Amino acid sequence: MTKPQPLIAGNWKMNGLGASLGEARAIAAGLGATSARVALCPPAVLIHRMSEALKDSAVLVGGQDNHWDDTGAFTGDTSAAMLADAGAGMVILGHSERRAGYRETDDIVARKTLATLRAGLEPIVCVGETLEQRKAGEALAVVTGQVRGSLPADLAGKAFSVAYEPVWAIGTGLTPTTPEIEEVHRAIRATLVEMFGEAGKGVAILYGGSVKPSNAAEILHADEVGGALVGGASLKAEDFLGIIRAV
Ligand code: PGA
Repeated sequence: MTKPQPLIAGNWKMNGLGASLGEARAIAAGLGATSARVALCPPAVLIHRMSEALKDSAVLVGGQDNHWDDTGAFTGDTSAAMLADAGAGMVILGHSERRAGYRETDDIVARKTLATLRAGLEPIVCVGETLEQRKAGEALAVVTGQVRGSLPADLAGKAFSVAYEPVWAIGTGLTPTTPEIEEVHRAIRATLVEMFGEAGKGVAILYGGSVKPSNAAEILHADEVGGALVGGASLKAEDFLGIIRAV
Protein backbone atom coordinates (compact mmCIF):
# COMPACT_ATOMS: atom_id res chain seq x y z
CA MET A 1 0.00 0.00 0.00
CA THR A 2 1.49 3.33 -1.04
CA LYS A 3 1.64 6.26 1.34
CA PRO A 4 -1.52 8.38 1.12
CA GLN A 5 -1.25 11.73 -0.66
CA PRO A 6 -1.09 14.46 2.01
CA LEU A 7 -4.24 16.53 2.49
CA ILE A 8 -4.22 20.06 3.88
CA ALA A 9 -7.80 21.07 4.63
CA GLY A 10 -8.92 24.46 5.95
CA ASN A 11 -11.92 24.57 8.28
CA TRP A 12 -13.38 28.07 8.22
CA LYS A 13 -15.95 27.16 10.90
CA MET A 14 -18.58 29.95 11.25
CA ASN A 15 -16.31 32.56 9.66
CA GLY A 16 -16.42 34.17 6.26
CA LEU A 17 -18.75 36.20 4.06
CA GLY A 18 -18.80 36.73 0.30
CA ALA A 19 -15.99 39.25 0.75
CA SER A 20 -13.77 36.46 2.13
CA LEU A 21 -13.72 34.71 -1.24
CA GLY A 22 -10.76 36.97 -2.03
CA GLU A 23 -8.72 34.94 0.49
CA ALA A 24 -9.78 31.71 -1.22
CA ARG A 25 -8.74 33.14 -4.59
CA ALA A 26 -5.40 34.24 -3.12
CA ILE A 27 -4.83 30.71 -1.82
CA ALA A 28 -5.54 29.27 -5.26
CA ALA A 29 -3.31 31.85 -6.94
CA GLY A 30 -0.42 31.28 -4.54
CA LEU A 31 -0.60 27.48 -4.48
CA GLY A 32 2.20 26.70 -6.93
CA ALA A 33 3.52 23.15 -7.21
CA THR A 34 2.64 21.00 -4.21
CA SER A 35 2.46 17.28 -3.54
CA ALA A 36 -0.55 17.87 -1.29
CA ARG A 37 -4.25 17.97 -2.00
CA VAL A 38 -5.63 21.26 -0.70
CA ALA A 39 -9.21 21.89 0.39
CA LEU A 40 -11.19 24.73 1.93
CA CYS A 41 -14.33 24.01 3.96
CA PRO A 42 -16.30 27.28 4.28
CA PRO A 43 -19.75 27.72 5.85
CA ALA A 44 -22.40 25.88 3.79
CA VAL A 45 -23.85 29.05 2.28
CA LEU A 46 -20.47 29.92 0.74
CA ILE A 47 -19.79 26.52 -0.82
CA HIS A 48 -21.44 27.28 -4.13
CA ARG A 49 -19.79 30.67 -4.60
CA MET A 50 -16.42 29.34 -3.48
CA SER A 51 -16.54 26.34 -5.79
CA GLU A 52 -17.39 28.70 -8.69
CA ALA A 53 -14.53 31.01 -7.69
CA LEU A 54 -12.07 28.09 -7.49
CA LYS A 55 -13.30 26.00 -10.41
CA ASP A 56 -10.16 26.54 -12.50
CA SER A 57 -7.84 25.86 -9.56
CA ALA A 58 -6.57 22.75 -7.80
CA VAL A 59 -8.19 23.80 -4.51
CA LEU A 60 -11.07 21.52 -3.51
CA VAL A 61 -14.11 22.72 -1.57
CA GLY A 62 -15.76 20.87 1.30
CA GLY A 63 -18.54 21.12 3.88
CA GLN A 64 -18.26 21.12 7.67
CA ASP A 65 -21.15 18.78 8.50
CA ASN A 66 -24.13 17.03 6.89
CA HIS A 67 -27.35 15.49 8.17
CA TRP A 68 -27.61 11.69 8.48
CA ASP A 69 -30.71 11.62 6.32
CA ASP A 70 -30.90 12.49 2.62
CA THR A 71 -34.07 14.65 2.65
CA GLY A 72 -36.94 15.44 4.96
CA ALA A 73 -38.39 17.57 7.73
CA PHE A 74 -35.15 18.73 9.39
CA THR A 75 -35.48 22.50 9.63
CA GLY A 76 -32.18 24.29 9.34
CA ASP A 77 -30.16 21.22 8.30
CA THR A 78 -28.19 20.49 5.15
CA SER A 79 -27.91 17.12 3.44
CA ALA A 80 -24.74 15.72 1.91
CA ALA A 81 -26.44 15.70 -1.51
CA MET A 82 -27.06 19.45 -1.11
CA LEU A 83 -23.38 20.02 -0.33
CA ALA A 84 -22.41 17.97 -3.39
CA ASP A 85 -24.93 19.88 -5.52
CA ALA A 86 -23.34 23.16 -4.35
CA GLY A 87 -19.89 21.97 -5.43
CA ALA A 88 -18.41 20.25 -2.37
CA GLY A 89 -16.14 17.24 -2.81
CA MET A 90 -15.59 16.37 0.84
CA VAL A 91 -17.12 16.90 4.28
CA ILE A 92 -15.69 17.27 7.79
CA LEU A 93 -17.64 15.06 10.24
CA GLY A 94 -17.61 14.66 14.01
CA HIS A 95 -15.59 17.80 14.73
CA SER A 96 -15.25 18.19 18.50
CA GLU A 97 -17.20 21.46 18.33
CA ARG A 98 -20.13 19.40 17.00
CA ARG A 99 -19.56 16.48 19.37
CA ALA A 100 -19.49 18.85 22.36
CA GLY A 101 -21.88 21.60 21.24
CA TYR A 102 -24.51 19.46 19.48
CA ARG A 103 -24.08 16.22 21.41
CA GLU A 104 -22.99 14.24 18.40
CA THR A 105 -22.14 10.72 19.54
CA ASP A 106 -19.94 8.26 17.65
CA ASP A 107 -23.13 6.63 16.41
CA ILE A 108 -24.45 9.91 14.98
CA VAL A 109 -21.08 10.63 13.35
CA ALA A 110 -21.11 7.16 11.79
CA ARG A 111 -24.65 7.71 10.43
CA LYS A 112 -23.65 11.10 9.04
CA THR A 113 -20.59 9.53 7.44
CA LEU A 114 -22.83 6.98 5.68
CA ALA A 115 -24.90 9.87 4.30
CA THR A 116 -21.68 11.55 3.08
CA LEU A 117 -20.78 8.37 1.22
CA ARG A 118 -24.28 8.05 -0.30
CA ALA A 119 -23.79 11.51 -1.81
CA GLY A 120 -20.46 10.44 -3.29
CA LEU A 121 -18.44 12.77 -1.08
CA GLU A 122 -15.19 12.08 0.76
CA PRO A 123 -15.47 12.11 4.56
CA ILE A 124 -12.88 13.62 6.93
CA VAL A 125 -13.82 12.10 10.29
CA CYS A 126 -12.50 13.90 13.39
CA VAL A 127 -11.51 12.34 16.70
CA GLY A 128 -9.70 13.69 19.75
CA GLU A 129 -9.47 13.61 23.53
CA THR A 130 -10.19 16.38 26.05
CA LEU A 131 -7.51 17.67 28.44
CA GLU A 132 -9.13 15.79 31.33
CA GLN A 133 -9.01 12.54 29.35
CA ARG A 134 -5.34 13.12 28.45
CA LYS A 135 -4.44 13.89 32.07
CA ALA A 136 -6.20 10.71 33.15
CA GLY A 137 -4.06 8.69 30.70
CA GLU A 138 -7.08 7.90 28.54
CA ALA A 139 -6.09 9.62 25.28
CA LEU A 140 -5.31 6.48 23.26
CA ALA A 141 -8.38 4.60 24.51
CA VAL A 142 -10.69 7.56 23.80
CA VAL A 143 -9.31 8.22 20.33
CA THR A 144 -9.22 4.60 19.16
CA GLY A 145 -12.72 4.13 20.61
CA GLN A 146 -13.95 7.10 18.57
CA VAL A 147 -12.30 5.68 15.43
CA ARG A 148 -14.05 2.32 15.96
CA GLY A 149 -17.39 3.94 16.74
CA SER A 150 -17.44 6.74 14.16
CA LEU A 151 -16.19 4.95 11.04
CA PRO A 152 -18.83 2.72 9.43
CA ALA A 153 -17.70 -0.51 7.75
CA ASP A 154 -19.04 0.92 4.45
CA LEU A 155 -15.91 3.08 4.25
CA ALA A 156 -14.04 -0.02 3.06
CA GLY A 157 -12.74 0.70 -0.43
CA LYS A 158 -13.74 4.39 -0.26
CA ALA A 159 -11.54 7.49 -0.09
CA PHE A 160 -11.62 9.05 3.37
CA SER A 161 -9.36 10.63 6.00
CA VAL A 162 -9.26 10.68 9.78
CA ALA A 163 -8.30 13.89 11.60
CA TYR A 164 -6.76 13.67 15.07
CA GLU A 165 -7.64 16.90 16.84
CA PRO A 166 -6.94 17.02 20.58
CA VAL A 167 -9.80 19.16 21.92
CA TRP A 168 -7.40 21.12 24.15
CA ALA A 169 -5.23 22.09 21.16
CA ILE A 170 -8.03 23.58 19.04
CA GLY A 171 -7.86 27.35 18.85
CA THR A 172 -5.65 27.55 21.94
CA GLY A 173 -2.16 27.86 20.48
CA LEU A 174 -1.22 24.71 22.45
CA THR A 175 -0.04 21.61 20.60
CA PRO A 176 1.00 18.16 21.77
CA THR A 177 4.71 17.31 21.46
CA THR A 178 5.75 15.51 18.28
CA PRO A 179 6.16 12.16 20.15
CA GLU A 180 2.64 12.61 21.59
CA ILE A 181 1.22 13.22 18.11
CA GLU A 182 3.08 10.20 16.73
CA GLU A 183 1.87 7.95 19.53
CA VAL A 184 -1.77 8.78 18.78
CA HIS A 185 -1.36 8.61 14.99
CA ARG A 186 0.28 5.16 15.27
CA ALA A 187 -2.61 3.97 17.44
CA ILE A 188 -5.11 5.30 14.87
CA ARG A 189 -3.18 3.56 12.07
CA ALA A 190 -3.24 0.26 13.96
CA THR A 191 -7.00 0.62 14.50
CA LEU A 192 -7.58 1.42 10.81
CA VAL A 193 -5.62 -1.68 9.79
CA GLU A 194 -7.61 -3.75 12.30
CA MET A 195 -10.86 -2.42 10.78
CA PHE A 196 -10.03 -2.22 7.07
CA GLY A 197 -7.04 -4.52 6.63
CA GLU A 198 -4.31 -3.49 4.19
CA ALA A 199 -6.49 -0.59 2.90
CA GLY A 200 -6.20 0.98 6.36
CA LYS A 201 -2.58 1.78 5.53
CA GLY A 202 -3.67 4.06 2.67
CA VAL A 203 -5.86 6.36 4.77
CA ALA A 204 -4.41 9.83 5.43
CA ILE A 205 -4.38 10.65 9.15
CA LEU A 206 -4.44 14.43 9.51
CA TYR A 207 -3.38 16.35 12.60
CA GLY A 208 -5.47 19.35 13.67
CA GLY A 209 -5.23 21.85 16.50
CA SER A 210 -3.27 25.13 16.38
CA VAL A 211 -1.36 24.27 13.19
CA LYS A 212 0.39 27.39 11.90
CA PRO A 213 3.24 28.16 9.50
CA SER A 214 5.79 28.11 12.34
CA ASN A 215 4.99 24.57 13.57
CA ALA A 216 3.69 23.00 10.34
CA ALA A 217 6.97 21.51 9.08
CA GLU A 218 7.68 19.62 12.29
CA ILE A 219 4.10 18.34 12.60
CA LEU A 220 3.70 17.41 8.93
CA HIS A 221 6.95 15.44 8.91
CA ALA A 222 6.09 13.45 12.02
CA ASP A 223 5.55 9.71 11.64
CA GLU A 224 2.06 8.77 10.40
CA VAL A 225 0.97 12.40 9.92
CA GLY A 226 -0.62 12.60 6.47
CA GLY A 227 -1.69 16.23 6.43
CA ALA A 228 -3.44 18.83 8.53
CA LEU A 229 -6.89 20.13 9.37
CA VAL A 230 -6.40 23.84 9.91
CA GLY A 231 -8.84 26.22 11.59
CA GLY A 232 -7.80 29.80 12.31
CA ALA A 233 -4.72 29.80 10.07
CA SER A 234 -6.81 28.79 7.03
CA LEU A 235 -8.66 32.13 7.09
CA LYS A 236 -5.60 34.04 5.89
CA ALA A 237 -4.07 33.11 2.53
CA GLU A 238 -0.53 33.88 3.65
CA ASP A 239 -0.76 31.62 6.72
CA PHE A 240 -2.53 28.76 4.93
CA LEU A 241 -0.02 28.88 2.06
CA GLY A 242 2.81 28.83 4.61
CA ILE A 243 1.40 25.56 6.00
CA ILE A 244 0.95 24.04 2.53
CA ARG A 245 4.56 24.91 1.65
CA ALA A 246 5.72 22.98 4.72
CA VAL A 247 4.40 19.66 3.34
P1 PGA B 1 -7.37 25.63 14.91
O1 PGA B 1 -8.63 24.69 14.64
O2 PGA B 1 -6.38 25.38 13.80
O3 PGA B 1 -7.91 27.02 14.89
O4 PGA B 1 -6.80 25.22 16.25
C1 PGA B 1 -8.47 23.40 14.12
C2 PGA B 1 -9.82 22.74 13.92
O5 PGA B 1 -10.71 22.91 14.76
O6 PGA B 1 -10.03 22.05 12.91
